[in-house]
Amino acid sequence: MTKHPSFEFDRRRLLGLAAGAAATAPFAAFAQTGGDAQLKIATIGAGREGGALGTLFAKQGHPVMFSSRHPDELKDLVAAAGPTAQAGTIEQAVKFGDVVLLVVPYTAVEGIGRDYGKALAAKPLVIDVSNPIARRDGDAIVSRVAEQGGAGLATAKLLPGAHLVRAFNAINFRRLPEDAHRAGDPIGVPIAGDDPAAIALATKLIKETGFEPVLVGGLAMGKYLVPGTPLAGEHSPAEIRQIAATLK
Ligand SMILES: NC(=O)c1ccc[n+]([C@@H]2O[C@H](COP(=O)([O-])OP(=O)(O)OC[C@H]3O[C@@H](n4cnc5c(N)ncnc54)[C@H](OP(=O)(O)O)[C@@H]3O)[C@@H](O)[C@H]2O)c1
Repeated sequence: MTKHPSFEFDRRRLLGLAAGAAATAPFAAFAQTGGDAQLKIATIGAGREGGALGTLFAKQGHPVMFSSRHPDELKDLVAAAGPTAQAGTIEQAVKFGDVVLLVVPYTAVEGIGRDYGKALAAKPLVIDVSNPIARRDGDAIVSRVAEQGGAGLATAKLLPGAHLVRAFNAINFRRLPEDAHRAGDPIGVPIAGDDPAAIALATKLIKETGFEPVLVGGLAMGKYLVPGTPLAGEHSPAEIRQIAATLK
């Protein structure tokens, strides 16, 4: 496993992020208050998983823009997510979001990179929830992703310069509302990334939703953050650390 420093919330790190971020004001506020300020979250993809994840962030009070190619079909989702939620086109969401969640079939990632890659590279964090799945995306894509070292490294090629963290990739959308802020020990969310500031921000945001992020390594470890691997599903943070230690 790639060795990575573990990240607790680090105010100086987030202040550094604020200094470098395209939209400085919200990041500075987020860092200064230790997270009470609300970042704008955009989802590219607002289906089962994107809808459920965006709703978690909206329930935390973050302004959320769900997006799809048919934003007029998202009225029920927006109403259920609450007053901080709205819907838009992908272009509007990319403009809106301080942080972007990419939650689309893997076949869509290439086109999104082509159309919005430059704008996404200017965001301090893109959370990549998308997985290559043979029965949906086809064997050719799955083989290509594998040749490139798995989903983390493959997404980085499709979104050059993006500050990527893979997260939530194999927690079923139905489980997200129940698992968030559950009583007792939190459910762990394995995360993988190469950018320390993006990891710090993802860590903070994921903790806010009532999960415990566990950094398992760099984007090369993103290949394990897909359904069908030992890290898939719901695990405690300790279980994730144990499993990750057996993976290379
Ligand atoms: N379902 C889960 O429990 C789960 C859990 C973890 C990770 N994931 C991963 O999350 C991703 C989404 O899964 P899902 O279950 O949420 O799928 P879904 O319910 O089918 O939703 C897919 C979303 O992606 C959008 N989309 C599809 N093709 C697109 C394109 N070419 N360009 C832009 N947007 C496009 C769709 O929007 P429009 O068609 O309206 O534009 C829709 O909002 C997948 O990679 C999946 O493996 C899913």
